[in-house]
Amino acid sequence: MPISKKIIKKRSYLIRGGEPLRGEVRVPGAKNAATKELVASLLADSPVTLHNVPEIGDVDVTLEMLSALGAKVSFKKGMAIVDARRLKTEKVAEAFSRKNRIPILLLGPLLHRFGKAMIPALGGCTIGARPIDFHLAALEKMGAVIVCDKGFYTATTKRLKGAIIDLPFPSVGATENVMLAAVKAKGTTIIRNAAVEPEIMDLAVLLQSMGAIINLDVNRTWVIEGVESLHGAEHRVIPDRIVAASFMVAAAITGGDVFIRDARQTDLLSFLNALRRVGVPFEIQEDGIRVVGAHGDAPLRPVVIETDVHPGFMTDWQQPFVMLLTQAKGVSMVHETVYEERFGYTDALVKMGANIQLHRECLGGKPCRFVNQDYRHSAVIVGPTPLKAAVIVIPDLRAGFSYLIAALIAKGESKLTGVELIERGYEDIIGKLKGLGADIEVL
Ligand code: EPZ
Repeated sequence: MPISKKIIKKRSYLIRGGEPLRGEVRVPGAKNAATKELVASLLADSPVTLHNVPEIGDVDVTLEMLSALGAKVSFKKGMAIVDARRLKTEKVAEAFSRKNRIPILLLGPLLHRFGKAMIPALGGCTIGARPIDFHLAALEKMGAVIVCDKGFYTATTKRLKGAIIDLPFPSVGATENVMLAAVKAKGTTIIRNAAVEPEIMDLAVLLQSMGAIINLDVNRTWVIEGVESLHGAEHRVIPDRIVAASFMVAAAITGGDVFIRDARQTDLLSFLNALRRVGVPFEIQEDGIRVVGAHGDAPLRPVVIETDVHPGFMTDWQQPFVMLLTQAKGVSMVHETVYEERFGYTDALVKMGANIQLHRECLGGKPCRFVNQDYRHSAVIVGPTPLKAAVIVIPDLRAGFSYLIAALIAKGESKLTGVELIERGYEDIIGKLKGLGADIEVL
């Protein structure tokens, strides 16, 4: 059954809280690098091989989308091979419009291949929350003519050309979109105020292996000299720093002891600083990081955290970290500055017993771009609070993992539904948690 159908099926996890996690878990390749690198393979005139690709829903959806465009794809044991020599269409089927944010990144590669790209609009053509205005403006500046009609963005061009792109905010997706368009554009592209996340660096590394000329300059500036053609390459995807951080919190909060193999300190600097300030002991080893739960000894300490673009504390670490702070003694503050509405998931935690209040002000940090707007983007967390089991519907991937963590320490039996959202980004999550001693089953 195609994954685009399979993913609709609703399943649940049943979790009985109270077991400390112990043992070893391996961090797979990063979702947010692998999916973009699969898209990059459309630019090559010979096959691209990626290793350490995670077996998750978002990778399946991306591979299915490439296959629907005519690419030959294979995926086995973490190795994906994409041969895009014979693409047959420039139109991404509507079925892929709501699966994830990847389709819009196909603009550049399809324009290079066909001079035309048709991408289904995410929920119609209006620019609402999580907009793509930076993507569209940048591609237009590079010579694409883009119209939105009948639920599709249709872009056309004779040839994309290099341009100076000033991003209003260092958007991950917009930076990647421009990169994928610039590597084969005529002339040089400069992306200023760009995102510099490790996953983007990994994409740049792959593109260079494919024949691109691409460099990260000072002050968040990417400089890309377009080349005539790109070839296949072999590349290993970096480990997933969000999965690594998620398991670190799960280990710490359950009072466990877990070795997180392949967690890379360089990608986790600001997360590890926060963990240290809270008082969670960890040990950096050559091939991973060991985290030991601090329960029983000194209580966890409250902290003030502000999410930010890399190299700051990333917004996708916020949800598991808030969970950790519900168990710290005192008042913590978290100021979310990347997304305007990323605390909605805390309502369910409050029902489980957490003490979390949301505020519209920029608390605990400097004013961000959401100042004086009506977004509840700061959280005050008072702890520690015991949690009780609950029945929860998962709203999104990262919130889903934070509910998993909540259920692991809650008293009683919790039921999480909509778990396919977690499985979009966490490989073999049931196997991994069971392997660490969690009492969890699939319904
Ligand atoms: C990527 O999303 C990740 N997704 C997100 O991870 C991650 O949270 C985010 O980057 C920030 O690190 C993937 O890589 C697939 P952005 P992306 O463009 O690229 C605003 C996960 O769970 N913006 O950096 O969509 C936007 O509204 C996901 O793995 C515009 O205003 O994020 C947001 O406030 C969730 N106009 C901010 O910029 C635009 O055209 C950052 O978004 C584009 C973005």
